[in-house]
Amino acid sequence: MSNLAVPSILPESLLRFLWTQRRAFLPGLGLAILRILTIAPLPIIFQRILDVYLTAKDVQGILILSAVTIVLLIIHQICSVQGASLLATTVTRVVLELRGRIFQKVQFLSFGYLDRQQTGRLLSKYAFDTQKVEGVIMPVLNSFIPDSLYSLITLGVLVSLNLKLSLVVVLMLPVFAIMRARYFDRFRAKNEANRVAQENLTGAANEMFTALKLVRVYGEEAQAADHLAASNDAVARSRVELITVSTSFGAFSFAAIKVLSLVVVAGGALLAIHGEVSVGTVIAFVAGVPILVGPIQMFAGVSEQYFTAEAGYRSIHELINAPYVEEWHGVRRPEPLRGRITFEHVQFRYPESDRGAINDLSLDIAPGEKIAFVGPSGAGKSTLANLLLGLHRAQSGEIRIDGIPQAELDLRWFRRRTALVMQESILLSGSVADNLRFARTDATDEELHAAARLAHAEEFILRLPDGYATRIGERGALLSGGQRQRLAIARAILRDPALLILDEPTSALDYESERLIQRALDNLARGRTVITIAHRLSTIRHADRIIVLKEGRIVEQGTFAQLSAAGGYFSHLLGSQPAESA
Ligand SMILES: Nc1ncnc2c1ncn2[C@@H]1O[C@H](COP(=O)(O)OP(=O)(O)OP(=O)(O)O)[C@@H](O)[C@H]1O
Ligand SMILES: [Mg+2]
Repeated sequence: MSNLAVPSILPESLLRFLWTQRRAFLPGLGLAILRILTIAPLPIIFQRILDVYLTAKDVQGILILSAVTIVLLIIHQICSVQGASLLATTVTRVVLELRGRIFQKVQFLSFGYLDRQQTGRLLSKYAFDTQKVEGVIMPVLNSFIPDSLYSLITLGVLVSLNLKLSLVVVLMLPVFAIMRARYFDRFRAKNEANRVAQENLTGAANEMFTALKLVRVYGEEAQAADHLAASNDAVARSRVELITVSTSFGAFSFAAIKVLSLVVVAGGALLAIHGEVSVGTVIAFVAGVPILVGPIQMFAGVSEQYFTAEAGYRSIHELINAPYVEEWHGVRRPEPLRGRITFEHVQFRYPESDRGAINDLSLDIAPGEKIAFVGPSGAGKSTLANLLLGLHRAQSGEIRIDGIPQAELDLRWFRRRTALVMQESILLSGSVADNLRFARTDATDEELHAAARLAHAEEFILRLPDGYATRIGERGALLSGGQRQRLAIARAILRDPALLILDEPTSALDYESERLIQRALDNLARGRTVITIAHRLSTIRHADRIIVLKEGRIVEQGTFAQLSAAGGYFSHLLGSQPAESA
């Protein structure tokens, strides 16, 4: 099993976070900088060849310098490839770790917190926000930082060659930067418009594809198509605008660099007439201009990416640093688990609710007892089951398992010895067998089949195209509601738990299947504590004790016969249910 600790918190800002990863980035960044250092002397080499060796007609000198340049270029090439691959590897690893941390944190988030989160948002943190963070690291480390260094070194080289001509270039740079920034604003606006249009289209398409059956059943295909066509048009329009702006943006950059080069050449020529610079120096400057403007060219794009990444990081940070974790640090394991459960004056309120969901509830369930909870919708039955499993924490009172307070119990150990058949069965998209084995990865085929048989699931499983190997679609979509429920029951049976909690396990079944499964569950119940939550009173006829819950309080308890005769809420309920179900 992987690491089971709550992941450590993240630093406040993305920059800080990246700083904590500096060791991992260092080798790749080192190569990227080496890549720059190998080509930084090129302007000087060009200038020397022209001004020194050409003037002296020193052929050998020219050849030696050329050879040196080629060696430098080869090293440059190696550093480029190796540096990029090394950086990509480390960046990917950092993002992988971040994803791992998100998933691990989610495992510890309290159900109270999870209930308030949209699954889609959690998923988006996991998949997309991490990608946004990844999206900025590579360009910054592999391009922006080395290129800025390159630009500074080149500026130094040019200043050393000729101060006056350098001044001309340096004075031009802000003009270039300002014009570029204005252009970039337009580009960014179009880019944003395109992003929004795309998001709208995805949203609309998502809805239409999900509602495919609704559309078909209502015969409203034309309406659906119109709905999508509008969003599609908007994307197409914004895309054309974006491409137009982006190409003119590229053309502008190209022209601006040429103008800058022209200024250098013309200014250099004027200075040369007065004997203030050599031709070699002017050539070195022309070569240097694109290097100087490189980081300016990149800056707007990189800062945009940085803000996007920062927003993604904040969203991840918010999750990973969320304090709403299940605070269970207990270590005690009452081996073997007997299944005595005690509630003592338990009081529980959901975080944003102003009313208690469970109010001053006390209850003692003996090992092996079959207990049933009934009561109106919203009475707190499911809440009680969740409290028992420690998925929520009571504000006051105490829950004890085999006499051990919940806080001292090793809860994961406890949960692995219980099985909960939920009101809405949660299935995975794998095969039938995968879904059953989720409860016990080491179960043999025989055990698997036995569990399915007990749950009356085998007869439909064997009729599926590939039997136990049949894939059941996203969340079991290829199965009927009753089939899903029977799989969920088989899964619980396979787990062979000491404590079995059934939250309306037969609500999606017809009376015949219900009767069969009920018998199976009765068999299964032997030797373990079973808590059944039921609306259909027929299913709890044989319970040792029935607890009637109302507004989080126990209002009645007793056997089926006792309660039926008592003339209270239970007998009222019994009277209102169809005869064959009671
Ligand atoms: N995650 C939640 N956040 C806030 N309130 C909740 C949450 N879950 C349930 N409640 C509220 O707590 C109360 C008890 O809900 P619970 O789900 O335990 O009822 P139930 O008895 O299981 O009902 P049903 O028979 O319909 O399943 C209800 O008033 C419900 O609105
Ligand atoms: Mg419920």
